[in-house]
Amino acid sequence: MSEMPCLSVPKIYGAKSLALVKKMNLLNQKFGVQREKGYLYLPLTRESTATEINELKRDLPEFEICTRLFFERVEHQPKLVDLLSDRLPPHILASLPHSIDFVGDIATVELAPELESYKQAIGEAILKAHKKVKTVLAKSGIVSGVYRLRTFDAIGGEVKTVTVHREHGCIFHVDLAKAYFSPRLSYEHNRVASLVRQGETVVDMFAGVGSFSMLIAKKHRDVQVYAIDVNPDAFEFLKKNVLANRVEASVKPILGDARQIVDERLTNVADRVIMNLPEKAIEYVDVACKALKPKGGFIHYYEFSDMPEPLENAKRHLTEAVKHTDRHLEKISLSRTVRGIAPFTYQVVVDAEIR
Ligand SMILES: C[S@@+](CC[C@H](N)C(=O)[O-])C[C@H]1O[C@@H](n2cnc3c(N)ncnc32)[C@H](O)[C@@H]1O
Repeated sequence: MSEMPCLSVPKIYGAKSLALVKKMNLLNQKFGVQREKGYLYLPLTRESTATEINELKRDLPEFEICTRLFFERVEHQPKLVDLLSDRLPPHILASLPHSIDFVGDIATVELAPELESYKQAIGEAILKAHKKVKTVLAKSGIVSGVYRLRTFDAIGGEVKTVTVHREHGCIFHVDLAKAYFSPRLSYEHNRVASLVRQGETVVDMFAGVGSFSMLIAKKHRDVQVYAIDVNPDAFEFLKKNVLANRVEASVKPILGDARQIVDERLTNVADRVIMNLPEKAIEYVDVACKALKPKGGFIHYYEFSDMPEPLENAKRHLTEAVKHTDRHLEKISLSRTVRGIAPFTYQVVVDAEIR
């Protein structure tokens, strides 16, 4: 962090003042522009001269020269706000997305409604800022349906939804339009995979393209993972990813409804069951209990849960559901918030030991 002279302006003069200080060679591009309470703070390379201040006075109805602490830009990627400052009105700049998800060479973003008419410019700016990105997709609907899919609007680069993503040393072939995949679950995939012990049998009840399953098999030599998904496209990607990660010996992809598959083929086999279908997992707690070995094992139970007590809600729901089976919930070893999914709503996980 360094202290330096800066130009402070109301946000409405953001684009104009940026263009001005750039033209005057005054903008210190090594440091990031700051936004706070309706004002922008532009870091300057040096104190401005009297002539420069007069020039600013001519073009800006309101401004102040002050000193302030600025953070050095960590990455050399240009910021979206800087790339778009000449193309978008300042009040619109404030609505730019704060996060971009990267899946292989595809970037996905959620755009506020007021950005609709600027989406092509935003797509181009993301391509410019992230050289490895070939496609920019705007999320155009919510995740819905049995297969947990959403639609996308191509706003930059090559129009495609298929790519190859790398996560924790695994390769994932994905089609974002046809089978569920989220890079935001990366930490959770790794956390659960790290809990698996040698020799375990795992049932991944809602496997998608195999995010948990591949990683478990890659991390542990002596495991057996049954990866179930009801979506035929997810099943095709599961098979492809098993080959790509060379885990044919330990991951068995299965197409079908988890309840039916456990009833028919996977009763009393598992040391561990993963239930990552947050909106419906509660309806499958009896199935997970049935999949566990007679001596019991572990369940990773996911739920979408609301404030004020998302973790307490999920723990209570799981505890109640287990009471309706012939099993016993021995211990809740962990509960944690995985991510926020809407204001006041979270995806949470409860790890439980079942006997
Ligand atoms: C939220 S995604 C989870 C994907 C993956 N586990 C992950 O962490 O990325 C849930 C998956 O469950 C599948 N699914 C939904 N209902 C199912 C059912 N009754 N039996 C098996 N799979 C199901 C959907 O097709 C979807 O791929």
